[in-house]
Amino acid sequence: MDREKERVETHRGKNRRLQTLPAEFLWDGLVLKDDIFNHTGAVLLLPKGETITRSRLEKLMGFYGNNRNIMVYEETYLEIMTDEHTSPEARQKMMENHVGYTRLHQSIGGLFERRDYDVWLDSEKLAPLIREVASKLENFDPVTILSCINFPRPMDEGLQRHSLNVALLNGMQAEWLALGQEDVNTLVLAGLLHDIGKTMIPEEILNAPRRLTDEELAVMRNHPVYSDELLAGKFDDHVRMAARHHHEKLDGTGYPDGVSGDEVGFCARITAISDIYDAMVSARSYKGARLPLDVFDMFYRDEFGGLDRGLVITFLKNMRERYTNRQVVMSNGRRGEILYIPPNDAEHPIIRQEDDVRQTDEDWYCREILPLAGA
Ligand SMILES: [Fe+2]
Repeated sequence: MDREKERVETHRGKNRRLQTLPAEFLWDGLVLKDDIFNHTGAVLLLPKGETITRSRLEKLMGFYGNNRNIMVYEETYLEIMTDEHTSPEARQKMMENHVGYTRLHQSIGGLFERRDYDVWLDSEKLAPLIREVASKLENFDPVTILSCINFPRPMDEGLQRHSLNVALLNGMQAEWLALGQEDVNTLVLAGLLHDIGKTMIPEEILNAPRRLTDEELAVMRNHPVYSDELLAGKFDDHVRMAARHHHEKLDGTGYPDGVSGDEVGFCARITAISDIYDAMVSARSYKGARLPLDVFDMFYRDEFGGLDRGLVITFLKNMRERYTNRQVVMSNGRRGEILYIPPNDAEHPIIRQEDDVRQTDEDWYCREILPLAGA
């Protein structure tokens, strides 16, 4: 924390964190529940209880140079972020900054740039990154992290973002299975590296904005083998086998080796669930993104086949628990709260919208799940 911010908090005798917020996210008529400060956090711009008018705010900000940011306490930040005035895109950007996802995403950049494997593929060099991922899992609520993961994304962000998401999802699953820190780290590492072999696939196949031909699909399906080869001699067998077998199925119908049952290791089984979840919630060129609740249903109905059912049940049980009591935006644009997610029909949760409590249907459904509990 810089000295100026510290000064403000010490002065006010509160141990509360300030967050930077672009001033454009405030709107006319917003009544401040807390003070807001200029971009350094040192100067009080408007006190608690004031009603925002853009023109007044602009004028006040004008005194402190051209910086377009203000600073607000974390609670205010989260309130503004989840308010209906804030667009899903703005919400996503703010959430990613809040969690530190953006920075994490940038710091894994070099790993997937098709070069310098000797520099990057080193377990000691990756250790600080793995610790940082693990610290996100410790410090943030899973749904807050999932709100970064779940957002539809453009194709060109595919590999880096997917790898980070699978690392986070693997870590979450490891914690839900009450594994030790070392196993959490192994699974995070496996998630981060499972698709590294895709960097060996020609760009025109990897990022084809259409369904692949049979020949192209055969090339694409070599990526787990390439992952294994790139990791050989550098990472332990659990990480390597998770990479090689994350597309295998317990019934032997997967690839690249067609192994089955016990031949598919524990880390590979967990990584397979994370991999599918992330692929389903993300936007891909040939299909639309889906809401997490719809994806839970697909897992429940075993639409993907060949997954470890025990691990899937643990995954779904924890996901349902975390999403219960969350705020949602309904298809009519109004806010509601998830009261109950039926285990066998997660796609149709019971929602409270003001005094109305009922199950969603084709005409009245969740459009967006907001990251925070409470209004
Ligand atoms: Fe893969």
